[in-house]
Amino acid sequence: MNNNKTFLKIKNICCVGAGYVGGPTMALIASKCHDIKINVVDLNQERINQWNSDDLSNLPIYEPGLDLIIKKCRNKNLFFTTDVHKSIAEADMIFLAVNTPTKSKGIGAGQASDLKWIEASAKQVADHAVGTTIVVEKSTVPVRTAETIKQILNLSSNNINKNQKKLKKFSVLSNPEFLSEGSAIDDLENPDRILIGGEDLFAIESLANIYKRWVDDKKIIRTNLWSSELSKLTANAFLAQRLSSINSIAALCESTGADVNEVSKAIGLDSRIGEKFLQSGPGFGGSCFKKDILNLIYLCNFYGLNEVANYWKSVLDINSWTQDRISREIVFKLFGTVIGKKIAILGFSFKANTNDTRESPSIKICKNLIEEGACLSIYDPKVEKKQIESDLGLNCSNEVKISSWIFANNIFEAAKNADAIVILTEWHEFRYIEWEKIYKIMRKPSWLIDTRNIANYKKAESFGIKIWRIGIDK
Ligand code: NAD
Ligand code: UGA
Repeated sequence: MNNNKTFLKIKNICCVGAGYVGGPTMALIASKCHDIKINVVDLNQERINQWNSDDLSNLPIYEPGLDLIIKKCRNKNLFFTTDVHKSIAEADMIFLAVNTPTKSKGIGAGQASDLKWIEASAKQVADHAVGTTIVVEKSTVPVRTAETIKQILNLSSNNINKNQKKLKKFSVLSNPEFLSEGSAIDDLENPDRILIGGEDLFAIESLANIYKRWVDDKKIIRTNLWSSELSKLTANAFLAQRLSSINSIAALCESTGADVNEVSKAIGLDSRIGEKFLQSGPGFGGSCFKKDILNLIYLCNFYGLNEVANYWKSVLDINSWTQDRISREIVFKLFGTVIGKKIAILGFSFKANTNDTRESPSIKICKNLIEEGACLSIYDPKVEKKQIESDLGLNCSNEVKISSWIFANNIFEAAKNADAIVILTEWHEFRYIEWEKIYKIMRKPSWLIDTRNIANYKKAESFGIKIWRIGIDK
């Protein structure tokens, strides 16, 4: 690398993986750095077609504000393509934003991260990169994965590139992503911090220089590679731990007459605790918390830290227990049986403002209720029927029958002749349900089960609807 300069001015970026991280992150960088050409590549042709769709409501992921940025930058300095090799060859910086799910078979199955996509993309980079390339680990990975990436890259870096007659040279950085779905654009635009781990100061500053276009340098933290990789897993584990803590206290509130919202507020005002991430709910979902904690557990056991592993395992156990607890509460409230009863499920995504259903608590709760014999009418503003079918492993039914589910296009359709309404995702529109109209079309006695504490329960109650709110009502 050129050591006369403190950083390389990046002109061409390739991002491998056009998913929930690769798509929005590259879109935001493109919108801030008009002089950088960005190719976002994926093997999945359908996903790339969706990113290139003229109809912006057809983008592969729903994220507020993303469509406007895509409209502004696409085919100007932001491109979505399946031409992985050419895009790698052109790039002076390559982000790896591929999936790292939990391994389903082999050593560490059910806990360790499956790094086959990281390995495959590193091999693609090794084979097709030209000259000097900075490789940035954007995916969440186990500690010391950068070592594996370096080994794969270095296997080929001794080879002279046939066309260019130039020696390949790589620098590997860790730059974990902390965005949350549903607020990704805002999180990317106003991050709490940017974390860059690495050994090569020149490469670190080349990446930092991109972020400095819109992020204060004070927020850009430089660490060693392993601290950076471990900080990402630790951040997710701490966030999830807060949720299991408050969800465990929610159950105790119900038994003692305390109100979990009041408890959250009271403890959150202690500046050492802080007010965020204390909203009790049906258990955390999303593609990362569970897989990252499983990965942490695997690492702890691998290094012989069994007590530490057990500590983090309890965070997952409480989460799973919370989801089962809610399913049981619903059955108890409906006089101990839901066989043949119609239950309206409002919200299927794992949180509001996203169409993502990965690890959504709705999946387990719905499966439990279907197994108990209920017919669910499921409505979510952004989740499609075929996604729910795939998550539940059950085709949508055309009629109300035992142990089935039907798809509803709106709240009213879902609530018609329902014995209960269960709010599972905190979508904005569920805060403003017209309870008078809803009560009229429900079967009596009618129940509102609010696992997010967002409904106007006083209004609902005034029309005769029976109420159960998480962490408040017995
Ligand atoms: P995703 O499944 O939505 O996207 C990954 C994409 O990579 C897929 O489209 C897949 O086809 C593509 N891919 C895999 N191997 C490839 C290859 N060799 N060449 C080209 N494309 C390839 O995953 P995601 O949610 O974007 O997560 C990506 C990583 O970021 C994970 O490690 C995750 O833990 C981490 N992360 C995710 C979030 C989030 O909110 N989803 C936030 C922070 C970090
Ligand atoms: C989470 C982290 O917040 C991000 O920093 C991280 O980058 C990301 O995981 C990742 O690595 O994938 P995300 O899963 O998108 O982001 O969404 P969160 O806002 O963290 O919500 C996770 C789950 O916790 C959701 O099911 C949500 O409903 C639930 N939650 C969140 C609560 O029940 N209560 C709260 O107070 C907050």
